[in-house]
Order: sequence, then structure tokens, then C-alpha cells
Amino acid sequence: MPLITLIPGDGIGQEVIPAARLVLEALGLDLEFAEADAGFGAFERTGEALPEATLAQCARSDAVLFGATSSPLGQVPGYRSPILALRRHFDLFANLRPAQADGIDLLIVRENTEGLYSGRERTEDGGQTAITERVITARASERIVRLACQQAQGRRGLLTIVHKANVLKATCGLFRRVALEVTRDFPDLTVEEMLVDTAALRLVSDPGRFDVLVTTNLFGDILSDLVAGLTGGLGLAPSANIGAGRPAVFEPVHGSAPDIAGKGIADPRAAILSAGLMLGYLGYAEEAARVSQLTRLTPHTGHTLRTAEIIAEALRRG
Ligand code: NAI
Ligand code: MG
Repeated sequence: MPLITLIPGDGIGQEVIPAARLVLEALGLDLEFAEADAGFGAFERTGEALPEATLAQCARSDAVLFGATSSPLGQVPGYRSPILALRRHFDLFANLRPAQADGIDLLIVRENTEGLYSGRERTEDGGQTAITERVITARASERIVRLACQQAQGRRGLLTIVHKANVLKATCGLFRRVALEVTRDFPDLTVEEMLVDTAALRLVSDPGRFDVLVTTNLFGDILSDLVAGLTGGLGLAPSANIGAGRPAVFEPVHGSAPDIAGKGIADPRAAILSAGLMLGYLGYAEEAARVSQLTRLTPHTGHTLRTAEIIAEALRRG
């Protein structure tokens, strides 16, 4: 029986994760749930944002459903973002961001461990020059593109490799070369490459033409939020963090929304769609598709649990 660890976290995470659980339970599958603590609240209570017990609980699990956590404003000694720590600990190298709306059905596969987010930054000239190093490796490029190819095989079979190799000849050049090599192992796919600026334009002007896009960390970060904006906003944007083994971690793209937390009005659909992605990952393809379809068809009532109950009830009716 698959073991799912729920980490509500802070703010509306505490509201949308119970809502997602309600929907999962309506499916009547043999799923086992455990809850674990993480976030700024946990940090204030225990001194740890991601307690050791939570990490151990995740390590025993098949999948983790994560709500959101709050990052303190300014530097707080000892605080580390739990989701970043989870991604690093379990080497969740791929961030998957599917988006669906009228005539749009695409998936952005973003490399999640290197690129401009490697943390290699320094200043020179007494602070008058700042340098961030962009690290691209053949190994990380290979595995992210292979995963994107596998995703494309289960979809419409079009893979778009997004880069800026005309300018970033060393880093994007390596990513592009490795990507084109990997795609030779997938002769059934249609493979194209596109410069990132062109991709931004075409995602807005003709999003329906895309299927799977694969790209490096920063480009993927920006393009996936652009696509979220095109397809219903944060309330409908789910994501998956995938590595080579288990667990994978699923989370709504939104944060802890302190401005509406505690009121019971947060839109739970991004969390429910994330739970749907998790079902697909656990092998429940049919249930995953039903959850995704029903959730997108159901408007948010303005009340977190009410919206979840409507979706759960529709699933129970079958
Ligand atoms: P946010 O996503 O929490 O909120 C942005 C705006 O969208 C707010 O007005 C909020 O009320 C609204 N919103 C977000 N999700 C919603 C939902 N499900 N239903 C209805 N309205 C929703 O981003 P913000 O304000 O930049 O960050 C707030 C906190 O969340 C910060 O501490 C930030 O560090 C953290 N954060 C955490 C993330 C994570 O845990 N992965 C991701 C993004 C932000
Ligand atoms: Mg982002």
C-alpha cells in the first residue's frame, strides 16, 4: 500500500492539504497517510524548519504532498527553506509544471539543481561588481532531458529544447549538445529546439502548439510562471519534484499566502491537482486523470473545504 506523507507547512498550506486529503480519500484507494511537520512554525517551535523526524518519515514514503512554507523576511540564522532542503536531500532534479486550459496542454520540465541557482556568487571591486556563476553539467542535462523525453512519450510526442546557445555558448551550448544526443534514443519523438526568448513569445502567442518543453533552471522558473499566468493563475498551478527513486514531492506552486491564511477561503485546487499528479506517479493513471479533469471543471466556491467537498462528491459519484 503506498505511503503518502502530508506536510501542510505554514499559512494556507494548513488549509489546502487537508482539502486535498479529503479528495484523495474520496477515491477509495488503498492509500496510507502520515502527517509531518515543517516550515517556519516548526522552526519557531523546535528550532528546525525540516525536523529530522520529518525527513525520516519522508524517506519511508512513496510520495510527499507538500503545502507551502513561509520564508522569514530577512536573514534568520539557522532557517533553511524545507522544500529546497527536501529537493536537495532526495536529489529531486526535475521540476514538472503541467498547464492545461482551453486549447493548451503542455508540460514544462525544468532542471532543478544547477544553472544560475548553484549559489556560486561573489562580489569584486569592493562590491561594485557582482558575479553569479552558471553551472551546467553533462550529467544533469542528460538526466533532465531523458526524463522529459519519457514524459513526451506518454503525451503528444513533441519535445521542445529551450536554450540560449547563440549567446551562452559554453553553458547552453553544452545543454543543447547533450540534449540533442539524448533525444537520439527516442526516435519516436518529434524534437525541436527554440531560443528562450522566442519560446516566451510563442508561449503567449501560440501556446497550443507546445507539448513538452525542457530547459535549464532559471529559464524554466520564469517560463513556468508565465504559463501559470496564461492558464488560470496560482490557484490552478500544480507541480512535481521528481528524482531517480522514491519519494517524489508534489506541491502547489503558490506559497503560504499569509494575507488570506486562517480564513478558510484559499483555493485548494492547485493542491488537489498536485495530489492528482501524485496519483499518476504512484501508478493510478485513471484516477489521476479524473481528479485533474474534475478539478479544472469545478470553480472555487470561495471556501476551501466546500470546493474540495464538491470535487470529492463528484469523484464518489464516479
Ligand atoms: P503566495 O503564493 O503565498 O501569494 C501570492 C498572492 O496569491 C497572495 O495575494 C495570495 O493570497 C494569493 N494566493 C496564493 N495562493 C492562493 C490560493 N491557493 N488561493 C487563493 N489565493 C492565493 O506568494 P507570496 O505572497 O509571494 O509569499 C508568501 C509566503 O509564501 C512567503 O513567505 C514566501 O516565502 C512563501 N512561498 C513559499 C513557497 C513554497 O512553499 N514552495 C512558494 C512561494 C512562496
Ligand atoms: Mg518560481
